[in-house]
Amino acid sequence: MAAIAEAAALIRGGGCVAVPTETVYGLAANACDSRAVAGIYEAKGRPSFNPLIVHVPDLGAAEIIALFDDAARALAQRFWPGPLTLVLPVRPEARIASLVTAGLDTIAIRVPDHRAMQALLDASGVPLAAPSANASGGISPTRAEHVAKSLAGRIPLVIDDGPTSAGIESTIVMGNVILRPGPLSRADLFPCEGRVPELPSVSSGDSGPLPAQGNKGIAAPGQLDSHYAPAKPLRLGATVRREGEWLIGFGAVPGDDTLSLRGDLVEAAANLFDALHRGDASEADAIAVAPVPESGIGLAINDRLRRAAFPK
Ligand code: TXA
Ligand code: MG
Repeated sequence: MAAIAEAAALIRGGGCVAVPTETVYGLAANACDSRAVAGIYEAKGRPSFNPLIVHVPDLGAAEIIALFDDAARALAQRFWPGPLTLVLPVRPEARIASLVTAGLDTIAIRVPDHRAMQALLDASGVPLAAPSANASGGISPTRAEHVAKSLAGRIPLVIDDGPTSAGIESTIVMGNVILRPGPLSRADLFPCEGRVPELPSVSSGDSGPLPAQGNKGIAAPGQLDSHYAPAKPLRLGATVRREGEWLIGFGAVPGDDTLSLRGDLVEAAANLFDALHRGDASEADAIAVAPVPESGIGLAINDRLRRAAFPK
């Protein structure tokens, strides 16, 4: 299919393209390329960063990126390819962009059951980060026309392979906790458990791994708010370095490090979590970040910076 070859070339060139999966249409980019992933956020006009789901062709490819225990492997063998996303420890050597994981040490990963997405994974040869292919605040697209309408002029290509079959986003599972309900129910996933409530529960008392740092609990399905926050105090809007600080610059504000020397917001988004990690790892007692314009993807950068600066 010519569209797949064209899409794969765009992906390899650092672009993003819309592609159907069995759940919803996704906006896909190379998960190992921070700038490409930042491009997803820019196209969606998303005012905040959430960790994204990474799509791979099969379990073998997933095991190269994430660390599976026996229970996770059993779920994968039973439900992949399919609408199941597993949250697992990420292997650092897999070189997944930190913007994909929002700086966390876990990753959400799945093997999609759709010929177009599978063909794109095969032709591009890279893991694909892909949230739903709609503008921020819009509803998830289940047809190519929905994508075209929502993201008109913002993305170079939509692969049209008809309506999606499941129509809602994949079920997300971490250990034995359902982080986001989806096409696969608790009874489908954990049939041996007996009758338990369908909705996510973190207080079930058994030993599933709890979400990583930065969560404010899992009150509302799909509203999971995990992201990396530095251990050190963080000062925003800094134009000069104060005593004991590690200054992360932007544009004309120089620093020990910079989000983007040329003041490019897409580049700044791509560098954000790595820069925070470097500040945390430095000798300094505190981190300061230069002002970032409140426009375009700058909104998402500032949203994350404000959350990261919130007193711990
Ligand atoms: O069906 C789907 O899953 C669609 C299609 C395109 O595959 N994709 C999708 O992706 O919905 P996305 O990136 O929008 O879903 C991200 C969800 C968010 O709720 C996010 O909080 C959660 O996955 N998530 C991602 N990484 C996580 C992590 N390390 N820990 C906990 N939750 C994570
Ligand atoms: Mg969405």
